[in-house]
Amino acid sequence: MKRPARPLYSILLLTLLAVTLTYRTVLRGGGGVLGSLECEATAKSVPRQVPLPAFNSSVLRYAEIDVSEERFKNETEQLLEGGLASHGRHRTYGTWRRFSHHDPNGRTFQGARETLRSPMFYRYWLDFRRNLGNWARNNRFQPDVMDDLIRLVKHPLDRHNGRPASDRRHASCAVVGNSGILLQSGHGKLIDSHEAVIRLNNARIQDFEHDVGSKTTISFVNSNILHFCARREACFCHPYGAAVPIVMYICQPAHFLDYTMCNSSHKAPLVVTDRRFDLLCTRIAKYYSLRRFADETGRPLEAWDAARDAANFHYSSGMQAVMLAVGICNRVSIFGFGKSELAKHHYHTNQKAELGLHHYEAEYDLYHDLAKHPLAIPFISDKFRFPPVVIYE
Ligand SMILES: *[C@@H]1O[C@H](CO)[C@@H](O)[C@H](O)[C@H]1NC(C)=O
Ligand SMILES: *[C@@H]1O[C@H](CO)[C@@H](O)[C@H](O)[C@H]1NC(C)=O
Ligand SMILES: *[C@@H]1O[C@H](CO)[C@@H](O)[C@H](O)[C@H]1NC(C)=O
Repeated sequence: MKRPARPLYSILLLTLLAVTLTYRTVLRGGGGVLGSLECEATAKSVPRQVPLPAFNSSVLRYAEIDVSEERFKNETEQLLEGGLASHGRHRTYGTWRRFSHHDPNGRTFQGARETLRSPMFYRYWLDFRRNLGNWARNNRFQPDVMDDLIRLVKHPLDRHNGRPASDRRHASCAVVGNSGILLQSGHGKLIDSHEAVIRLNNARIQDFEHDVGSKTTISFVNSNILHFCARREACFCHPYGAAVPIVMYICQPAHFLDYTMCNSSHKAPLVVTDRRFDLLCTRIAKYYSLRRFADETGRPLEAWDAARDAANFHYSSGMQAVMLAVGICNRVSIFGFGKSELAKHHYHTNQKAELGLHHYEAEYDLYHDLAKHPLAIPFISDKFRFPPVVIYE
């Protein structure tokens, strides 16, 4: 049913890309740099008069290529088309086995089949398809999605906190990364003094309050985290308390299963990041990685794919949380990002190595641009006003 539409879709995408590039070239004329790093300036007052640094167009073009796009489309289509009675049943069964994992009937094949036929399963199935479908519909690059983050993320949280949804940004936000550099930092009080505190991937705070603080306004996770803490009958995914909202990006479309199960029991909002925001972060992360790769190795951009395992390359949760804060806060403080020879990778675990799928050094380049030259960051609409960003190292 959807197949004949594909060439048309590709043409549309190409057109959109061309229009977007033209739009940027036309609009990027009068840029500016962030005047003051210190905290008093607000997002609206950032002047924009200084000309923009020139972007290297080959790096830009290469950063726009998303090699996981086809896999994403395939997976989404199969999940959406794999109805209970269709050819997708085996896959469906596999996907939903977790659903029946804690169901005594679900332990046998016969039992699992009963579960799949049950009305409750069917209701979940419909919700799952609706949630996945709504999300996948926004699978496009849109440079001004940054301006939409208030509506997409902050409004539901305002309502949850018993306030009318407000277009006002948070006065100040702390994004707390999980780097071992936080140990012995004594930053806990400073972190908690921000209006909103964003924490990452359910990192533990007990016993570390002096260095990492104890307040949590948003728990930002990737869907792998939810995948391991979601269960059919409840969602054990809120170490900061059931009232703390979760914002999550989706690593695999099938994780909407976990989302659907968790959302039905979670008391606070469980907000999935808009796909347009994900795609914006994807491009920015790849751009910074390409630049660093080219500078460090002197090799052609084409060599990046093999060197960084393009199919599995992904921005880190920390990076998207920082971009979220940049979109919904009037000033942003970044804690616990970065490394030192002596520091542990995570303050709360003994994990030795970094995951290869993230390019942390390239992401630090982005944070430094956020703090010093935000208009040197590509792909973001000119209309967007960057808040002051301070990095605590
Ligand atoms: C996507 O699906 C098509 C046909 O269903 C297949 O030929 C192609 O290899 C798949 N691509 C990926 C990346 O899975
Ligand atoms: C998530 O759960 C809340 C509360 O039960 C509900 O209002 C909301 O519609 C759900 N969201 C989705 C996308 O199903
Ligand atoms: C753009 O970057 C690539 C990769 O580093 C480099 O080979 C090329 O010379 C650069 N182009 C310009 C115009 O600077």
